[in-house]
Amino acid sequence: EKQICILAIESSCDETSASVCINGEILSNHIAGQTVHERYGGVVPELASRAHMQNIVPVVHTALATAKCSMQDIDAVAFTQAPGLIGSLLVGAQFAKSMALALDKPLIAVHHMQAHVLANLIPEERPEFPFLCLTVSGGHTQIVVAHSPLRLEVIGETIDDAAGEAFDKTAKLLGLPYPGGPLVDKYAKEGNPEKFKFAEPQIPELNFSFSGLKTSVLYFLQAQTKEHPDFIKENLVDLCASVQHTIIRILLKKVKKAVQQTGIRQICIAGGVSANSGLRAQLQEAGRKHGWKTFIPPFQYCTDNAGMIAITAYYKYLAGQFADMEVSPSARSEW
Ligand code: KG4
Ligand code: ZN
Repeated sequence: EKQICILAIESSCDETSASVCINGEILSNHIAGQTVHERYGGVVPELASRAHMQNIVPVVHTALATAKCSMQDIDAVAFTQAPGLIGSLLVGAQFAKSMALALDKPLIAVHHMQAHVLANLIPEERPEFPFLCLTVSGGHTQIVVAHSPLRLEVIGETIDDAAGEAFDKTAKLLGLPYPGGPLVDKYAKEGNPEKFKFAEPQIPELNFSFSGLKTSVLYFLQAQTKEHPDFIKENLVDLCASVQHTIIRILLKKVKKAVQQTGIRQICIAGGVSANSGLRAQLQEAGRKHGWKTFIPPFQYCTDNAGMIAITAYYKYLAGQFADMEVSPSARSEW
C-alpha cells in the first residue's frame, strides 16, 4: 500500500504549528505559541505575523524530526487558507507554496473551521457519518452536520459574539488577562455555578447569541462593586463558575435542539472552547442522559493546531482536491 505523507502548516492566528500525517495517522503536531500579545490584552496582528516568520522554520523542522520524516518523504504540503488574520495566514501560505514548489509536490488549501470539525477523525475512536459537531472557538460558534469528511453543512451559528469571545470578554470584566477562557475554566472548578444567575438569550432556530451575556455580567458587576468594591475579588471563583455554567447551558440547549431536528445522535465538539473542562463533562453527561454517543478530541487537537489541518488535507488528497499556486489566503470565513 502506498503511504501518503502530508506536511501541514497552521498559522491563522497566534499559534504557529506544523504536523506530519501518514495515511491519516498524525505522527507529529508541534505548536509554538506566542507570548508577545499578553501585555496588549489581545492578539496584535502585526506582531503575530512577525512571530510566525520567526517560528515557522524551526516548527516545521521539529514536526518533521518528531515524525522521523525527511523532506523527500513528503507527498503534499497543506496550509490553512481561511479564515484568520491575513498577515498570519500569508506566512503559512507562502511557506507552504515555496515548499510545494521546491519539492514539486501538490499543494492543499484547508479551511480552518472544517479542520476543527475533522479533528474528531484523529483519535482511533471516531464518529460515524453523519455526525453533529458543535464548533466553538474564539471567532466562531457553529453547529455543523458532517455528512462526509468533505461535505459539512452549517445548520446554526452565532449572530454576534463567539463562545470563546464570551469567555474572554467576561474574563476581562473580571480583571483576568487575555485569553481569559482557560483561566475562567480553572477558577470555575472551585466555584459554585448556581451562585449567580445570568439571563439566557431567546434566539430562534439553532442560532446563538452571546453579546447579551457580556452586557448582563457588566451591569451586574457595576451594581455590585458600587456597594462592595472587593466584590469581584471575593467572589471570583463563583463568578467564573456561574458565567461558564451559563455559556455551557446556552450551547447545550441548541445541541439538544439540533439532535431533535436532525435525529443524529453522534455528537462531537471542536475548537478552542471544546478544551473547557466544564463543557467536556457536561456534554458527556448530556450524552448519557439522552443516549447520544459523544466524541471529544484530545486537548492538543482542540485549540489551534496543524494536526487538524493535516487530517483534513489527507481527505482532500484522497479526493484529489489540490490547490494551484495562485491560491491566496483569505481573512473571511466563507466555506
Ligand atoms: O480554536 P482556537 O484556539 O482559536 C480560534 O480559532 O479562535 O480558540 C481560541 C478560544 C479563545 O477564546 C480561548 O479563550 C478559548 O478558545 N479557550 C477556552 C479554553 N481554552 C481555550 N475557553 C474556555 N475554556 C478553556 N479551557
Ligand atoms: Zn481555531
